[in-house]
Amino acid sequence: MSATAPAPFRRDGGSGRFGGYCLWHHYRLQGRTSSRTTFPKRAWVPVDITVVPRGSYTLLPCSQARDETVERPTVHVPEILLEADYNAMSLRAGDIVGEAIRHNPSIVLALPTGTTPIGLYADLVRRHRDEGLSLSGVTTFNLDEYVGIAIDDREGYHGFMRSHLFDHVDIPEGAWHLPNPQATDAGAEVRRYEGLIDASGGIDLAILGVGANGHLAFNEPGDTLTGPTHVAALADDTWLRNFPSLAPRLKDEPELRARYSTAYTVGIGTILRARKILVLASGMAKASILASAVRGAITPRNPASFLQLHPDVTFILDEAAGSWVHYTA
Ligand code: GLP
Repeated sequence: MSATAPAPFRRDGGSGRFGGYCLWHHYRLQGRTSSRTTFPKRAWVPVDITVVPRGSYTLLPCSQARDETVERPTVHVPEILLEADYNAMSLRAGDIVGEAIRHNPSIVLALPTGTTPIGLYADLVRRHRDEGLSLSGVTTFNLDEYVGIAIDDREGYHGFMRSHLFDHVDIPEGAWHLPNPQATDAGAEVRRYEGLIDASGGIDLAILGVGANGHLAFNEPGDTLTGPTHVAALADDTWLRNFPSLAPRLKDEPELRARYSTAYTVGIGTILRARKILVLASGMAKASILASAVRGAITPRNPASFLQLHPDVTFILDEAAGSWVHYTA
């Protein structure tokens, strides 16, 4: 390792020189710290995952690399774009999403809510207003919505999407979709939503935020993850983060926790079936979970780590969110 190279993370507490991960080597690595090394062809070699170029690899903890009985998953190293701050992150995302829409005017998008995408939506509205970007052929599917709330609930995502995007661009009513919070049969609703996505031809570009605990949409950390659209219970930390105005009242009114406690969410499988995935994150609170998501073990304890199984993921991170990733492609 050179003096300037980032410290390697130990993915498995393992044995290898570079944190215990081995790569099935069939070409010469171009990584910053390994460019002077020629590895033997067709061999397991220890690698520093932080400097492996973007691509698809078979990676295993070195301790398992010689065990032929261990399944060898293909792990993908994503593209990571680091931007100075939230504003720059949003503009970079606007460039990518705007270009994707121009390239494919009938693109199918999956859209997030939360604080992270607000700047992106503002940029898309500006591009529509000032640069003639048209969303008239676009279809969108939001990632999630709370169960049982009124359509116009102030915490709900229907209102959020209208006020930040849909009311300001030319996307036709009927071309944007969210799960119906008023559905009387939740089982039928999740099947309807998943079916609608399939009937649209599937998601071309899924735009995601990440929870500070690694959740994607409302796929919360746990022992297992669910593939298709389903009803999920919000983790306590997610609830506290999402409802800062209710949280201080919880002590005196514990029954408040039951509000917004479940949500319809697309599943991890729905997300991974998207043709391309764009992940946005800003702020220090996301730094640690993002580093694990990009380079850590693939585990339902960190749902974002499942993105390593997708071959075409781009992260756009501001400096704070990317400060633990130490990855330069
Ligand atoms: C929310 C949403 C997610 C979102 C995430 C991050 O709970 N369900 O889809 O990506 O949490 O939120 P924020 O962007 O506010 O940090």
